[in-house]
Amino acid sequence: MAWRRACGRTDVDDGEAMQTEWEPPVAVFNVDREFFALADTCTHDESSLADGYVDGDIVECAWHFAKFSIRTGAVLSPPATRPVCAYQVRITGDDVMVDVPESGESA
Ligand code: FES
Repeated sequence: MAWRRACGRTDVDDGEAMQTEWEPPVAVFNVDREFFALADTCTHDESSLADGYVDGDIVECAWHFAKFSIRTGAVLSPPATRPVCAYQVRITGDDVMVDVPESGESA
């Protein structure tokens, strides 16, 4: 795993999310000014969770409305059945840093 800068602290408003440009992409969420990071690709199909609907600490996929915990990646409602990976986040100065697998390393 390696810490990478995902964005600046002011780049994601409270209740919003952004998608990193890395492959595979990570979705960074701001929940009450606390930041969380999940694998961006929904485990049901290929939708971006950063494009989903954020309600508190839950994100609802924009395509078929599966819900995931933003804190843990757990599935909260179908049609998804598998959780998404949740990554550690730390704030360094004004940067949101995410601990992601290095290339070739599985999550
Ligand atoms: S792609 Fe997310 S619920 Fe289907």
